[in-house]
Amino acid sequence: MTFEARNIYKSFNGTEVLKGVSLAMEAGEFVALLGASGSGKTTLLNIIAGLQHADQGQLTLDGQDITRLPAGKRRFGMVFQNYALFRHMSVADNIAFGLRVLPRRERPGRVERREKVSELLDMIGLADLGDRFPQQLSGGQRQRVAMARALAINPQLLLMDEPFSALDAQVRRSLRSSVRALQQKVGVGAIMVTHDQAEAWDLADRVAVMDQGQIVQFDTPDALRNTPATGAVRDLLQGAA
Ligand SMILES: Nc1ncnc2c1ncn2[C@@H]1O[C@H](COP(=O)(O)OP(=O)(O)OP(=O)(O)O)[C@@H](O)[C@H]1O
Ligand SMILES: [Mg+2]
Repeated sequence: MTFEARNIYKSFNGTEVLKGVSLAMEAGEFVALLGASGSGKTTLLNIIAGLQHADQGQLTLDGQDITRLPAGKRRFGMVFQNYALFRHMSVADNIAFGLRVLPRRERPGRVERREKVSELLDMIGLADLGDRFPQQLSGGQRQRVAMARALAINPQLLLMDEPFSALDAQVRRSLRSSVRALQQKVGVGAIMVTHDQAEAWDLADRVAVMDQGQIVQFDTPDALRNTPATGAVRDLLQGAA
């Protein structure tokens, strides 16, 4: 799946927060969105997800226009900072949730769902915890489950907004490598918003640096470090790994 956002504009109450953002991703690519607080990262991700709508601009998936496609029909996997698991559902039911709400035509049967869930539980290293409830898991385990839930539907794109920001540094580091491994195994393109430069560096094929509603540079970590396009990029990367 190739994904492209073209010339996206968005204002809130007359204030422009996205000012002509364009982003073209290759199939299976991992892109990090990095930028100061308020630079528009979450707004851009929400527009890509279909949770908010752009005032102007276009979104395409493999060349097909999805700008007006409702969020539920985009088949994107989402992991957000506060996208809590369903408390009243077991880990296994949380993971299966997206499968149960697929349109009837695409919905796998009970046996197939169970197989998918156990495959995902294996992949996230929580094979024995399917019957637990979210409050019986650590924060890192919960985010793994959120990741499995997002991947269960074989998403066309995986969208993550600071998925690890509530976790301590050590857990973040260990989750980082599992996220990258999972994403590559599934072969899905991913966009992850992060404040954490080291995280962007470690995970992303390319990093899109946002500054005041614009992507000021979109490049590999090495290229960003060696040839920052603007002072803002240089400042942001000060101290990056
Ligand atoms: N629903 C809204 N109504 C009004 N203003 C909004 C709304 N959502 C976002 N904004 C404003 O748009 C700007 C961009 O916000 P956004 O959440 O996209 O930033 P961000 O880069 O994700 O920041 P952070 O790193 O703090 O999460 C901010 O100035 C914010 O106050
Ligand atoms: Mg944000």
